[in-house]
Order: sequence, then C-alpha cells, then structure tokens
Amino acid sequence: MNSPHATMLEFVNANLPRFRRELDELLAIASVSTEPGRKGEVQAAAEWTARALRTLGCTRVESFPTPGAPLVYGENLPAGGAGPTVLIYGHYDVQPVDPVELWHSEPFKPTVRGEDLFARGASDMKGQILAVLKAVEAVLAAGGKRPGFKFLFEGEEEIGSTHLPEFIRTHRKLLACDLCLNPDAGMIAPELPTITYGLRGLAYFELRLRGPSHDLHSGMYGGVVHNPAQVLCELVAAMHEPSGRVALPGFYDPVRAVDPEERRELGRLPMDEAFYLRASGAPALWAGEQGYTPIERVGARPTLEVNGLSAGFTGEGSKTVLPAEAMAKISTRLVPDQTPETATSQLEAFLRQKVPATMRWELKRLAGGPPSISARESAGVRALSRALGEAWGERPVFRREGGSIPVVAYLQEYLGVESLLTGFSLPEDNAHSPNEKLHLPTWRKGIAALALFFVYLAE
Ligand code: BES
Ligand code: MN
Repeated sequence: MNSPHATMLEFVNANLPRFRRELDELLAIASVSTEPGRKGEVQAAAEWTARALRTLGCTRVESFPTPGAPLVYGENLPAGGAGPTVLIYGHYDVQPVDPVELWHSEPFKPTVRGEDLFARGASDMKGQILAVLKAVEAVLAAGGKRPGFKFLFEGEEEIGSTHLPEFIRTHRKLLACDLCLNPDAGMIAPELPTITYGLRGLAYFELRLRGPSHDLHSGMYGGVVHNPAQVLCELVAAMHEPSGRVALPGFYDPVRAVDPEERRELGRLPMDEAFYLRASGAPALWAGEQGYTPIERVGARPTLEVNGLSAGFTGEGSKTVLPAEAMAKISTRLVPDQTPETATSQLEAFLRQKVPATMRWELKRLAGGPPSISARESAGVRALSRALGEAWGERPVFRREGGSIPVVAYLQEYLGVESLLTGFSLPEDNAHSPNEKLHLPTWRKGIAALALFFVYLAE
C-alpha cells in the first residue's frame, strides 16, 4: 500500500500541467477590486471560482451578490456527514499593478522565468486558491476518509472586505464549520513551512488639505498664502515622535503586551535585521519603536505609514507654483485590542488639534479591518503541522505577521470559528509590488501538503 503522501504526490505530479493551465486562466483576469473600471473583471473572477467549485463536485454552489463584489459559496460534504467540516477561504481580487512600467512582463499575462511564475495575484492569492482547490481534488480522487468541505471566496479583501462581515453575520448556518483554512498568509522561506497565528488590523485614510481656491504663482503669493504641501509635510512629520513611536494621543492605550515567553519564541525565528535588510533592499533599517526587535515591530506592535503623497507640480522640469491642494494616503496597522474605529477617532482628534486655520481638511476612511490572534493549539493545528512537516521534512514555525486579513476576526466574532493560517507565498514574491511571482516548486509542495492536511484532519 502506498502512503497517503506518495499517492497525493503522484496525483499532483501527474496533473501539474493542467493545474498550471487553470492557474494561468485565473491570473489572466484583471480582478483589481479597488478600480471601479474593473468591475467586469472582478465579476469574471467570481464566476471562474464558482465554475471551479462545480467542477470539483460541489453539490451546492451559489454566488451571493453584494453592493460590491459577489461572495461565492460552495460545499462538498461527505455522505453521512460524519467528521469535521473545514471552511476554505480565499480572495479572488488583486491589488493594482502600478507602477506598470516596472514590470518585466505584462501583469495579466502569466509568464514563467526560471522557477517562478510572474503575474499580479500569482502569490496573493490566486496561486493559493488553486493550491487548495487542487489539494481538495487530490483528496477526492484518492477516495478515502475526508472532511466536509465548504468554500467562501470574496472579491474585496484587498480593499478591506467591505461586505463580508454582514454576510457572515447573516449566514451563520450556511457557513457553520469546525475550523477555517486560510492559505493567504505565506511562509518565511522556501525551506520553512509556516503557520501564522497573529495578523495586524488596518485603518486606511485619505487626507486632503485645501488652501487657496486655485494654484497660485509661487513668487507672487509665496510667504503670504500658506502652502498646503508644506502643511501636509509638517502634519505627517508630527505623526511620529522622534523616538519612532506613533504620536496620535492614546494610540498605544489598547495595545496588548507580548508576554516574555512569546517574545522568546518570536526571537528564535530567522527574521533578524539581516533578513529585513536583504528582503527590502533598503540601504539601512529604520530603528522604529525603541525596545522591540524587527519581527515584534512588524507582527506585534502597531505602526503608521504614509502610503502615498501628492501635491503641486510633479512633472518634468520646473513650474513655480503654490498648489491649491495636497493629499496623503495614510494607514495604521493595528494589533489587539486596537480597533479601526478608535484609530480613526484618534487621527481625527489629532487633525482637529493640529491643522492650522489656513487650511480646510477632509479625512476619508478607506480600507480597514480588525487585528486577530488565532489559537496555536488544536486538532487542526496538529493536523496542519504534521502535514507541513511531512511535505517539507521540516517542522513548521509559528509567527505573527504584519499584514491584514479581516475575515479571520469576523469568523471568530460571528461564528466562534478559529482560522488556520498558512500559505506558500514567500517574502521575495513581490506581493502588492511590480513583478509579483509564485515560486512553482514551493507551490507544488504546498498542494501536496494541503491534501495531506485534509486527510489527517479526517483521521
Ligand atoms: N495576503 C495578504 C495579507 C498578508 C500578507 C498576510 C503577508 C500574511 C503575510 C492580504 O491579501 C493583504 O494584503 N491584505 C491587505 C488587507 C487590507 C487592505 C485590509 C493588507 O494587509 O494590506
Ligand atoms: Mn494582498
């Protein structure tokens, strides 16, 4: 008798070219959720996932429209209904491709170079969606004992899962399950299978300052009319203390401290300064908040970032102008027990106090989501550790991650369900950047690992 590992690997290897073709199909759909002009493509990606679920033998597949992107649900439950049910989560939307001129091949024409497949969404997270669909396919083909499968795919994750919490809250019975598998969390290195148990939350804003009613000659008005670009820079600068801490009053009050035991464990991860220096290409690292290591500052401490700035003349050459307006995109990454709502009031209070009378200001809240910490001990965690360990020949490491996946907190809050967070994207895969890619050998291992996980979960 073959071991389940050997059987699954054989199935995956024998069908890999077809899996790759299907992945190429999904990657060719430009489902950028933040761009209003891409609604059709977002819809097409939703339909693609619904079709894939039908092909997988789901007995019930339904696409729930929302004012934004549809939520696609599917289920494939074993006869008799015994054993655990796992809810598989995925997002079929992707981030914008800008700056598009920095891509070496077109973002929606998947292209292989060496061991990598380049395309927007390749690792975040269409490659992960395919990995889990194909793992389920392998398990069903093997015909042995297996868990019940439910699927939930959304198309608004990259803009903060706008319509997801309401859907989960009102579809508790439909989504009822024992645990959620979320393969959107990636790994630390190709040789290091990773389980993520902490995610940061997000509150994202657009801040606009308006001074004069129109652009002015900077010689005729400079020194008399306050310059919105200047004021914006001063405000942004004031958002951090010289010590590196975020300066919004009360910002750290709800932050849960990391206990010494967890700090010791995080300290053992191979994510030291050298790792961040190498992965980022920065000439040197920023000291950031004093008293915390890089992995703690990214995973377990909140931060504030400027994601974009624009004002005045940014074209070639010079134009002596005093701009009428200045804009910044600013986001905070949050940790338990901060909430996007408190972060919003804190930024508003800060602006009310600091914006001078020479400016009108407007703060728009954009994407957001709550932070989460997931259980590190459960039957699901044991099954996943065993499967990853077997596929990699290396025990998985546990980490906190600085990115956000809002669904995790919503499932905890509305269903009382814990998520298992893993995935096969790598820090060097350029998520959200030009030349996003997927490391194909790691992806293939990941498919086999998830198939094993389902088998172990049903044992
Ligand atoms: N997959 C990422 C989050 C992530 C990144 C998890 C790295 C683990 C490791 C996810 O698709 C993402 O980018 N989310 C956005 C969410 C936001 C708009 C609410 C993020 O973190 O910026
Ligand atoms: Mn993402």
